[in-house]
Amino acid sequence: MADDIADGGSDIKIVFTPSGRQGHVPAGTTVLQAARTLGVDIDSVCGGRALCGRCQVDVGTGEFAKHGITSGADSLCGVTAVETRYADKKGLADGRRLSCQSKLVSDVVIDVPPESQVHNQLVRKAADDRQIDMDPIIRLCLVEVREPDMHEPSGDFRRLAEALNEQWPDRVTGEITCDLHILQQLQPVLREGKWQVTVALRDGHHVIGIWPGLKDRVAGVAIDVGSTTMSAHLCDMVTGDVLASTGAMNPQIRFGEDLMSRVSYGIMNPGGHLEMTDAVIDGLQKLISGAAEQADMAAEDVVEIVLVGNPVMHHLLLGIDPVELGGAPFALAVDTSVELRATELGLAVNKGARIYVLPCIAGHVGADAAGVVLAEAPQKEEVNTLVVDVGTNAEIVVGNSQRLLAASSPTGPAFEGAQISSGQRAAPGAIERIRIDAETLEPRFRVIGVDQWSDEDGFDDAVKSTGITGICGSGIIEVLGEMYLSGILSTDGVIDGDVAARSPRIEEDGRTFSYRISDNVVVTQNDVRAIQLAKAALHAGFRLLMDKMELKSVDRVVLAGAFGTHIDPKYAMVLGMIPDCELENVRAAGNSAGTGARMALLNKGARREIEDVVRHIEKIETAVEASFQDQFVKAMAIPHKSEPYEKLGTAVTLPERILTPDEAPAIESGRRRGGRRRQA
Ligand code: FES
Repeated sequence: MADDIADGGSDIKIVFTPSGRQGHVPAGTTVLQAARTLGVDIDSVCGGRALCGRCQVDVGTGEFAKHGITSGADSLCGVTAVETRYADKKGLADGRRLSCQSKLVSDVVIDVPPESQVHNQLVRKAADDRQIDMDPIIRLCLVEVREPDMHEPSGDFRRLAEALNEQWPDRVTGEITCDLHILQQLQPVLREGKWQVTVALRDGHHVIGIWPGLKDRVAGVAIDVGSTTMSAHLCDMVTGDVLASTGAMNPQIRFGEDLMSRVSYGIMNPGGHLEMTDAVIDGLQKLISGAAEQADMAAEDVVEIVLVGNPVMHHLLLGIDPVELGGAPFALAVDTSVELRATELGLAVNKGARIYVLPCIAGHVGADAAGVVLAEAPQKEEVNTLVVDVGTNAEIVVGNSQRLLAASSPTGPAFEGAQISSGQRAAPGAIERIRIDAETLEPRFRVIGVDQWSDEDGFDDAVKSTGITGICGSGIIEVLGEMYLSGILSTDGVIDGDVAARSPRIEEDGRTFSYRISDNVVVTQNDVRAIQLAKAALHAGFRLLMDKMELKSVDRVVLAGAFGTHIDPKYAMVLGMIPDCELENVRAAGNSAGTGARMALLNKGARREIEDVVRHIEKIETAVEASFQDQFVKAMAIPHKSEPYEKLGTAVTLPERILTPDEAPAIESGRRRGGRRRQA
């Protein structure tokens, strides 16, 4: 290796920042070698051959009184010809040195920039991004392999393994093994690379890829397979950077919009589940190939894939018939993580690529929820967190570092705008925000694709292109919340005919009433009921878990999933979709499941972590809990029949409610603190 210690001259003091590690090494030692000796994290793919550029460092300049060091460019040897050649070919920022080439001359402070650290923390790109410590399961290693020798016969793979052991002792953790396809291409690749090859080493011992010469970029893909949409992040497995992101509709939609209709398709059509597997794998392939193309890479460069999805998606992805998930006792085929070869699913990526599927938590709480837990880490918090992923089936996790419980609740598709008379998917033209004047009961609203509110100048012109087409999930939550706050809707969820006299917008509709938002968008009593049923199921689910934890309230609420991103937490709380909590502690976590998948892709420790957490999560089946029905009935009221929602009461003026007496002590305390509620 080029980073041999050159001479055993006088000791040089070297201090590395930001780690603060320091020590003495002989003059003439390369900075990379010194770093390894002192346990400092500097990356390398080429093993010190001035090819990969991953080992760049900056030299500290000036007096470092704290360390008693005067450091500067001349603390290292002059820029070597090899470095100049590298700089000419690939570019090297001013003052940067290749640590594998620069030798120590005198005491020095060396700064290791984040991009040169093996375990660098990826920079947060968005507020909902977790920091990810890089520790990927795949490492690229350039090796020089001994040529065969008549006098010392040995197989090429034996000499490759020897080279790995000798040249990458800190990466090899076990006996070197490989896939058959590696043996099939080993000899031509070794010769093409003139005995210099890059291997993709998986888990410290298994060779899954091999390329002639230097290969310094391979990719991994983290994919969240939702029932409706699928999204993929293609990441550089060396740097962790997201190189491309793609999304597509789940092609299984043609077999049924929601999960249960897909399960039914499998039941009604023998072999139907395999048709759905083929469809989703085909979709995944397009997603992966598209992402690779976007990143200017080939699908063969993809060496690792991580998948998350709800239990039905999880099973269908793996070609497992989800029929057992369609009815009690909702048995999963497997509740641990699954690792397999990408070729087993027929994906055309690198032949050695592996797929890691996060574990499902329970029959209705999937690997996507495990991804959310990994990203949101309630298990690391002392405080109590509720994580809720609202979809046609709400996935709910409650707990803290001591104890975590999970359940799902059958909320149905109402929150997504289905079963709502004017409901639609979130698309241009859909009402997504609404405010109702408490005096006049007049609405003002915003539609997707138009910046102005409906009472602002320019709205009529702007909305012409799309029209007002309906109301989406977040819009229906807001309108019901506003109808309740303005007195149109009673706490029992009845559109109050008595207020009809106050506004022509309250229209008689047979034996019930409706609220008209615009010419073609109304909220009917049936719409209110559909949302009440959905939110009561959701509330009963988390209340059940909170009761088991003996919690009256939680300290923070994380709304995962795309829906969570769009709903306003205030209105979700007004409707009782989430428990009482300080509003500022309610967070929309975006695509946390995808973030969790990316964490598992880039950090092998994250895989062990989530496997361990999932093993210890207590799984609660709401269907068999006797108190679920009782909780469900109480949760039909807005926000709730018996819960005081005191914290919410400090943020909005809640209409007076008659609370049931079982919560009397809480109500009394609420009253003492200035609550406005009447005692039953
Ligand atoms: S280790 Fe690859 S260039 Fe220095």
